[in-house]
Amino acid sequence: MSHHLGIHDLSFATTEFVLPHTALADHNGTDIGKYHTGIGQESMSIPAADEDIVTMAATAAAPLIARHGSDRIRTVVFATESSIDQAKAAGVYVHSLLQLPSATRVVELKQACYGATAALQFALGLIRRDPTQHVLVIASDVSKYDADSPGEATQGAAAVAMLVTANPALLTIHDPSGLYTADVMDFWRPNYRDTALVDGQESINAYLQAVEGTWKDYTEQGGHTLDDFTAFCYHQPFTKMAYKAHRHLLNYNDRDTDHHTITQAIGPTTTYNNVIGNSYTASVYLGLAALLDHTPDLTNQPIGLFSYGSGSVAEFFAATPTPDYHNHLHTTTNQHTITRRTTIDYPTYLQLHENTLPTDGTHHTTPTQTTGPYRLAGINNHKRIYETR
Ligand code: HMG
Repeated sequence: MSHHLGIHDLSFATTEFVLPHTALADHNGTDIGKYHTGIGQESMSIPAADEDIVTMAATAAAPLIARHGSDRIRTVVFATESSIDQAKAAGVYVHSLLQLPSATRVVELKQACYGATAALQFALGLIRRDPTQHVLVIASDVSKYDADSPGEATQGAAAVAMLVTANPALLTIHDPSGLYTADVMDFWRPNYRDTALVDGQESINAYLQAVEGTWKDYTEQGGHTLDDFTAFCYHQPFTKMAYKAHRHLLNYNDRDTDHHTITQAIGPTTTYNNVIGNSYTASVYLGLAALLDHTPDLTNQPIGLFSYGSGSVAEFFAATPTPDYHNHLHTTTNQHTITRRTTIDYPTYLQLHENTLPTDGTHHTTPTQTTGPYRLAGINNHKRIYETR
């Protein structure tokens, strides 16, 4: 018997704090139009001193465990590019915080912002082999650039957790995928750095090349035609990038690229990213959540998803919401996740930005700032200590 495979449930978390772009503009003298219109960002999520990729990931995944239990989860795949350890998978901490069964495999995946899509595809492969199993896919990242660099306005942080199953309640994921890899130095973070290095214009060009490359492969692999898609959901380092990407795809297909057509196809995908900022691996799936939450009806209508990770690897694939997907949305909770953040001023943001954990093994207790269910209590003897409330 063949099964539909896909995303059964999706939940996300972001940080305790938020910095409006007006505060950044006031600090650096930038015309706010550049942020609001030029890059399409209103604000960005800033982690508290006691938040990290693990606390966000556990917060995102906890509702999935509460709703569906953990009995059928035998694999947890954690995608991140803001890894906290070179050896231990961040997902092992999450496994512990969520008290998942010991009979579980847990692994971390990395390829810049693309990692979560690899995780999703690998999860589908596991479910295809045994449709009774569930796979927990988590994407969690903190996007951090140097203060006063051009990338600073495109920071953010969030985690998305997805339960991948057979006969999913939310979305079916389809074959084929369009794939594209090119060895480019558009954005990278050597092991000795906390903040990413980036060639801004090169990264935008590399992203657009990848849109073209994945689409070409997608059509050659026998995918849908452009007109089959009702909406397109792009990786959003800043929301204006989705507009550039869709215009590029339409141009490539000799189509009209008027603003109205583009806004109709991608506008609803930008509403969460616009106020959260870049969340790297989580970004395209936050776009998907926003699309499902803010479009009247997408039943059985293919959505095109484009995932891009600098360096670079990209994938284009289609997903279709199920006839019952409306009954499985958590729109009010999602909106609350965003509105519950506390607005901070520029000096508070800068202090958090420059905050680092000791690297000499000394005992360090983090201030209690987050009001979320999980917190990073400190570090001792090089070991992170987490707390559940
Ligand atoms: P910049 O040089 O500060 O900005 O960097 P700009 O001068 O290019 O201006 C940005 C836009 O604002 C331009 O619009 C301006 O015209 C406009 P565009 O020409 O692009 O349409 N503008 C204004 N609009 C209205 N009123 C005004 C005004 N002034 C200017 N007054 C850049 C911008 C995005 C390059 C920078 O923030 C950066 O380097 N960000 C980080 C890199 C990045 O996000 N790249 C995106 C593609 S790569 C990717 O997606 C992967 C990534 O997520 C990482 C991963 O995979 O792991 C980053």
